[in-house]
Amino acid sequence: LLGHLPGFLYDKLGFLERAYATGAAAVPLQLDEPTLLLREPEDIRHVLTTHAARYEKTPRLTSESGRRISGAGLHTSLMANHLPERRLLQPVFRPAALEDFTAGMRNQTNSRMASWRVPGEWDAGAEMEQLALAIIIGAIFGSGYQDRDGQLARAITARRAFLEYRQASLLPQAEYLPVPTVWRYRAAMKVIEHEIEHGMVGDGFAARFAALRYPDGRTLSRKRLRDEILTLMSTGYETIGDALTWTLYLLARHPDVEAQVLREMAGPGGGLPYTRQVLEESLRLYPPTWIFIRMATAADQLPSGAAVRAGMKLYLCPYLLHRDSRFFPDPGRFDPERFTDAARQARPRYSYFPFGGGSRQCLGEPLAMQECLVVLSQILPRFRFHPPAQVPELSPGVTLRPKGGLVMRVEPR
Ligand code: HEM
Repeated sequence: LLGHLPGFLYDKLGFLERAYATGAAAVPLQLDEPTLLLREPEDIRHVLTTHAARYEKTPRLTSESGRRISGAGLHTSLMANHLPERRLLQPVFRPAALEDFTAGMRNQTNSRMASWRVPGEWDAGAEMEQLALAIIIGAIFGSGYQDRDGQLARAITARRAFLEYRQASLLPQAEYLPVPTVWRYRAAMKVIEHEIEHGMVGDGFAARFAALRYPDGRTLSRKRLRDEILTLMSTGYETIGDALTWTLYLLARHPDVEAQVLREMAGPGGGLPYTRQVLEESLRLYPPTWIFIRMATAADQLPSGAAVRAGMKLYLCPYLLHRDSRFFPDPGRFDPERFTDAARQARPRYSYFPFGGGSRQCLGEPLAMQECLVVLSQILPRFRFHPPAQVPELSPGVTLRPKGGLVMRVEPR
């Protein structure tokens, strides 16, 4: 009666790995709704780019309650409304516009590093998440903003716990249940609303959004501004915290690669091309957005031949494609040489998509890459991380994190 659902809920990654290994072009799954797990890069391209208008994000995001909770912004809009919003916000996220945030990223990193207990053993995952959170708060409200006693950071963390709980819960009304996660979320939203209401000044994203104009001269309404800021508060830090965590872990395990990164950081020249390859390889093995979903609005046929029924869910799973030996020989091996231009061009575009693709491709990609490079170039020359004895287990929630955190021994260099 329940089809594949119990197996899936018990061990999502293991279940999907086994389904993927059956080798069908698109694997049918009997979950809460009929679902197809995609395996072919051309099918993924079809869904994300060439035929994207036939596929929506899921009601968990796009429904009224989804938009109320996640923010009725770009991330949750229906395809029909998406393009004008995307065009409006895009300029704020261009690499050249992000230069101003570099100093803030460096300062936040240095001020957190000053409090590190070294030599010592602690959860580098939790620390990277707190750092990424401090950076996005500074980026949203501007360099002059002070988060008094860390109350906003705590509120955003409580909201994140609620989003995680809502995603994991199968109950349609999870947000109304009398449980502490929900109470804490309600209290947190009061703090968040207050800070947004007073935070449209300064030189951060909030003020930059407020200054945007549609082609006809209109600005974003107060409500839309609030919602775009809420969107940044959920999309803009945990993914980066995870990417930094996994990269520190992989470098700790691969001293030869780490040595090359340090040589690049000590040398002249900007851009850090090798460190960028390291990051890309880290996002291959541990893509923070390990899965995302589309829903077919009409019947369709995928390039592989698989038939899609209206209402069907399609699972797009970077984690699985990224570990497919058809595209990445010996997929478990950490090897930044997979991301030279030549190696990249030899693969199908949609064998690697940590940031999605098409018109819904991650808007924060340039910010994420820049932030990771800035943070790593502050941390690595000064501190050495030692890997844990055990390979960390994965916790596939809203993002892909190490289960129970990632305790590492940290020493000054
Ligand atoms: C390593 C870090 C990040 C990863 C792996 C990541 C991944 C993704 C992915 C896979 C999507 C597409 C989801 C879909 O199509 O269903 C997405 C969308 C999005 N991301 Fe990111 N993201 C990261 C960082 C960020 C940051 C830092 C921001 C903002 C500051 C951000 C803002 C957004 C927004 C607004 C969208 C929705 C875009 C749209 O629908 O037009 N992301 N992200």
